[in-house]
Amino acid sequence: MKIKVYPTSALQSKAAAQVIADQIRTKPDTVVCLATGDSPFGTYRELVRMVRDSHIDCSRLRVFGLDEWVGIPPDNTGSCHYYLHENFIRPLAIGNDRVYLFDGLSKDLSGECSRMTEAIRHAGGIDIMIVGIGMNGHIGFNEPGVDVNLWAHAIELDEITKTVGQKYFQSATPLSKGITQGFQQVFAARTLMMLAHGKKKASIIRQTAEAPVGIAIPSTLLRQHKNSLIMLDEEAASELAPSLRN
Ligand code: GLP
Repeated sequence: MKIKVYPTSALQSKAAAQVIADQIRTKPDTVVCLATGDSPFGTYRELVRMVRDSHIDCSRLRVFGLDEWVGIPPDNTGSCHYYLHENFIRPLAIGNDRVYLFDGLSKDLSGECSRMTEAIRHAGGIDIMIVGIGMNGHIGFNEPGVDVNLWAHAIELDEITKTVGQKYFQSATPLSKGITQGFQQVFAARTLMMLAHGKKKASIIRQTAEAPVGIAIPSTLLRQHKNSLIMLDEEAASELAPSLRN
């Protein structure tokens, strides 16, 4: 696990967007798997700017969603579906045939998960997976206690996630389950980029780097990934031991 720290979240976002842009330039048919939420917001905005300014060809890019709230319709502004269309898919003009997102309204969640896992296999696996980190260390919706042997799956949400998740919605929204890529997809991703910024993430980032590796804090498992890159701003890195920063 490589940790990189930038003075501000704006610089962190720029650096992360540069990594993604370089990946797309090197392999135009790159398979990306994308988180939503506050953590990657600035990175996607920077990437859109870079793609426009440098005329990077995204016509062969393939996009998979990392997770979704079960029961939330795609036109709800708090859904991962809405976010990805708004901040990535539409600005980069990615064709619908190159986009694969979880259907949070599916009546057959296990079928939906099998279809997702198969679609990723068919695409040749994920080249770069971009994730944030929950306040409880979740990755996607892989909550504390998750079975790391799972591929895509539906899961009961942790109480912390249900509470924190309200920030994405315009009014109070009952949340109970999530649907997510599993740790098998996380481990199989050729590059894993985790983004975090702000003081409120400092404690969970320290635990990610220092706590015993295990499912109690799922993000610690990223230390076992063969190619994981954690990109932080100074505030999120503020509790890290100096020896862990570079
Ligand atoms: C959410 C999502 C994750 C996201 C994480 C952090 O609930 N399920 O995919 O990465 O929690 O969110 P944020 O970046 O808004 O802090």
